[in-house]
Amino acid sequence: MVLPAYVGALGHQKKRETTLITGASSGIGLDLAKLMAPDFDLIITARNQSELENVARELEAAHGNHVHVIPADLSQSEAPEQLFAEIARRGLPVDILVNNAGFGSYGAFAESDHQTELDMIQVNITALTSLTRLALPGMLERKRGRIMNVASTAGFQPGPLMAVYYATKAYVIMFSEAIANELKSSGVTVTCLCPGATATKFAGRAKMEESRLFKMGAMRSEDVARTAYKGMMAGKTMVIPGVLNRAIAMSVRFSPRKLVTAISRSLQERAK
Ligand SMILES: NC(=O)c1ccc[n+]([C@@H]2O[C@H](COP(=O)([O-])OP(=O)(O)OC[C@H]3O[C@@H](n4cnc5c(N)ncnc54)[C@H](OP(=O)(O)O)[C@@H]3O)[C@@H](O)[C@H]2O)c1
Repeated sequence: MVLPAYVGALGHQKKRETTLITGASSGIGLDLAKLMAPDFDLIITARNQSELENVARELEAAHGNHVHVIPADLSQSEAPEQLFAEIARRGLPVDILVNNAGFGSYGAFAESDHQTELDMIQVNITALTSLTRLALPGMLERKRGRIMNVASTAGFQPGPLMAVYYATKAYVIMFSEAIANELKSSGVTVTCLCPGATATKFAGRAKMEESRLFKMGAMRSEDVARTAYKGMMAGKTMVIPGVLNRAIAMSVRFSPRKLVTAISRSLQERAK
């Protein structure tokens, strides 16, 4: 069971801790915001300000917590610094950081829109790394904090037809596991969430709804978010929601790379 952060050992009401969630305007980030709202004040960010304001209004009305809206386009290199400057200006701590914002793009690399791929690297890798770096000093000073980085089962193998996306998620896995180790005994935990196909706006935005992978079925976003939240609060380093996703992630470790890449391509191809 996840204990509310503001309930102390003796049941006293303490000040709520604050969680920063990126990509909270839809999908897994939105479901995490809904799950965490009863227990935490939130800072929610994404590009879509009006959607974020709707979410904030709904959550505040339902749970009586504070939900701060700070819109940001994380494909802009200065966005992480600006976001943290605004958080500091409002006098807010970041007790928990959920690096969830991300996107993919379908198609052969040679024919891809290069700027889109560069923006993807900026959002999925660079912004996530900068936000982690910006959140850590406060957490280390308090000797307490949680970071959740959203990777993907895509990060466990190469992904023909989504080469850059899969590679960005491999980075998130390696980065998260490494800093989880570095931060052991610091009071700060790092959790890497690796969802498989999940029913959100992601597949439509990436133009991969017709891929075999998504045609095989997708998990519900709220189920992914629930498993993620529980895993993060338990301090787990790796969370892979779904038995099948865990089995696939395990099997690729022991299979020949060329075979793994060929199977990955077949799942990425459009179902006939
Ligand atoms: N759905 C899946 O099958 C799946 C599987 C594995 C991993 N994931 C990962 O899960 C995370 C959440 O994705 P989702 O499935 O929930 O998809 P989603 O519904 O498309 O949500 C993506 C979120 O990221 C935000 N975002 C996208 N580009 C941004 C930018 N440039 N600046 C700031 N925010 C941006 C979006 O908000 P705005 O558009 O308002 O900016 C939105 O809130 C991503 O990291 C994704 O790679 C998804």
